[in-house]
Amino acid sequence: MKHLFPIFQTHPNLVYLDNAATTHKPQSVISAIVDFYTKSNANIGRSVCCLGDQATQMYEESRQVVQKFLNARYPEEIIFTRSTTEGINLLAKILCQDLEKGDEIILTELEHHSNLIPWQQIAKIKRLQLKFIPVLGTGELSMETYKTLFTSKTRIVSVTHLSNVLGNVTPIKEIVQIAHQNSCLVVVDGAQAVSKILVDVQDLDCDFYVFSGHKLYAPTGIGVLYGKKELLEKLPQYQTGGKTISQVDLQQAIPADLPHKYEAGTPHISGAIGLAKAIKFVRTHCDMQKESMENSQILFHHEKHLTDFLIKKMSELTEVKIFGNSDQKLGLISFTVDGIHPLDIATFLAGKQICLRSGHHCAMPLVKKLGQEGLLRISLGIYNTLEDCEFFIKQLKQAIKLLKGV
Ligand SMILES: Cc1ncc(COP(=O)(O)O)c(C=O)c1O
Repeated sequence: MKHLFPIFQTHPNLVYLDNAATTHKPQSVISAIVDFYTKSNANIGRSVCCLGDQATQMYEESRQVVQKFLNARYPEEIIFTRSTTEGINLLAKILCQDLEKGDEIILTELEHHSNLIPWQQIAKIKRLQLKFIPVLGTGELSMETYKTLFTSKTRIVSVTHLSNVLGNVTPIKEIVQIAHQNSCLVVVDGAQAVSKILVDVQDLDCDFYVFSGHKLYAPTGIGVLYGKKELLEKLPQYQTGGKTISQVDLQQAIPADLPHKYEAGTPHISGAIGLAKAIKFVRTHCDMQKESMENSQILFHHEKHLTDFLIKKMSELTEVKIFGNSDQKLGLISFTVDGIHPLDIATFLAGKQICLRSGHHCAMPLVKKLGQEGLLRISLGIYNTLEDCEFFIKQLKQAIKLLKGV
């Protein structure tokens, strides 16, 4: 698989274990972007020249690829954004516009800052109350407590699909069912999940789902917001300007239909095309291993096997502490090494061309709850091999030996 990703030709000894931060791009995605600028570049939706038509068609076809990938009902339920972060900011603004003082939003203690701070900001302005589903020692959410959080004032639930710190999958379907029984809307942060799990928004029945292309082998600067058509049609606009309107006079403007209502200005056209190519890449490689898949929900079974291998090997090291319940992890492991600062380990491993992450992983409240100031995190991608994992374990042992002086 590495031969399909040019970064590994430039850096043949690279052991890249930071895929939760961003993924590398296959040649097919890079070529699709170069091809667009070489052969089809034009703005979309306006020009009647042949290039404009072609660019518009490619952009709209990309929307259909995303629609199929998420199993959304309609292409217009797919809004191109810049990222997960932008998608959540958009939703926090449009969903809270009509909320009243004292209305409540439920989040979890697991959340990335991108699914926390936009809600904090709007809560401050509108004087809303934030409530949190507690995370248990296993890394799972306390579903019993979740059920008790609802009152007649609860309006929104916003939750991650896969924790970027603990690597466990949250029970979205159950969370949605309970929220809907309480007449609440559900936002799902799919930033980490889309590269690991087959997402079916109709089956999950979530109202909104957001993700970033760059964590799914696509370029940076392109993201997706899925929203149920009947909701997006009724909700207010976010940004406005060119392309978001159907009629304008000097005093007022009438919003365009979906999806353009939410795509203000010239979008990241090549990004959308690159994202569609990345999704096709993922689907092709996922389908190739389908036969051997025990759990049909997991996109890449080899990532799960490598995760289990790493957990087994790391658990044999007495100095290593893994956070969260091991058997639920999907491609992502956070850990500490007793007596050694995470940054020292990360720096040692960087010297061996092993990329991993150290710090709070943009989830400070969770890391604090785990009693830590920082954690190390390894996160796997489609191209990681058993050799990568063995090399990592070998070098981790070396780091411990050297830095602890044992
Ligand atoms: C769970 C989760 N949500 C949101 C984000 C933010 O993604 P982006 O920076 O692409 O907007 C991340 C990024 O790491 C994440 O892991």
